[in-house]
Amino acid sequence: MRRGRRRTTTAQPGKQPRARTQGAAPLGRVIAVTSGKGGVGKTGIAVNLAVTLAERGNRVVLLDGDLGLGNVDIMVGLTPSHSLDHVLHESRPLSEVVVEGPAGVRIIPAGSGIGRLSQLGEEGQRALLDQVADLSDRPDYLVVDTGSGIGENVLFLASCAQEVLVVTTPEPTSVTDAYALMKILSRARGVRRFRLVVNMASDESAALEIYHRLSLVADRFLGVGIDLAGFIPPDRAVSEAICHRNGVLKAGRAARALERLADTVSGWKSGTSSRGGVQILGNHLAEQGDPIP
Ligand SMILES: Nc1ncnc2c1ncn2[C@@H]1O[C@H](COP(=O)(O)OP(=O)(O)O)[C@@H](O)[C@H]1O
Ligand SMILES: [Mg+2]
Repeated sequence: MRRGRRRTTTAQPGKQPRARTQGAAPLGRVIAVTSGKGGVGKTGIAVNLAVTLAERGNRVVLLDGDLGLGNVDIMVGLTPSHSLDHVLHESRPLSEVVVEGPAGVRIIPAGSGIGRLSQLGEEGQRALLDQVADLSDRPDYLVVDTGSGIGENVLFLASCAQEVLVVTTPEPTSVTDAYALMKILSRARGVRRFRLVVNMASDESAALEIYHRLSLVADRFLGVGIDLAGFIPPDRAVSEAICHRNGVLKAGRAARALERLADTVSGWKSGTSSRGGVQILGNHLAEQGDPIP
């Protein structure tokens, strides 16, 4: 990955805890997969994106950011004995919690049914950033499955990323919630640009219609830009794969669409980022030498 020296100036000191920088390996690109409404396909997209990027020779860390309700591990057939809860509340080092998933993706499990993770608080946020920033063997990509909604954890994790991938389905409830999330992320967290994925869109024109609608209102009322990162058609193979606890798709319509999404994401590192949000991890990276040309 090529390394430039550009620095960002979008940090809002005082508003968010900063990642520790001394002695830490710099992180690569941080991509948050998020949504307003739940059940729109985020975890499946995050898992497949992470695995495809890893299959292409990248070092990838997948952070299950659905804290306390995580299911990345279930989707890839793992049963980790530890989770972020042990890191944040029992002083266990992150390195002991990371598990290896398909294609060598390093997975940070969120834990399930752990209420105290649902509100990290500022101290927990700082601890999480410090731990992630200190990961040895610098990842080229940190993919974060944020969970859904407008809760503090979601807003925090999304605003840490350089790329905020908002997932919606064509259903009006999902589209409305995607807009609501973008509204809060832009107004309260300074995120200036979003990437949209329309999941379960019958075809490209259905996805484009939603994209145009959302991007029009986001531009007019929020003053933020949206790019269409991709669309994924409905495909029974997705739920079948998840039922077999192997959500990494190998064939079919959705698998091909997810491959295309990974192509698009890979293209971002070569120069299209507007570096929108608070980007705490991104700033950490910039201080180390920014790999984005
Ligand atoms: N492209 C798709 N085609 C068919 N079903 C899908 C597709 N994407 C997601 N699903 C279904 O939606 C469910 C929720 O997906 P998941 O990734 O867990 O969503 P989220 O993380 O947003 O809650 C999955 O269990 C799967 O059955
Ligand atoms: Mg999920």
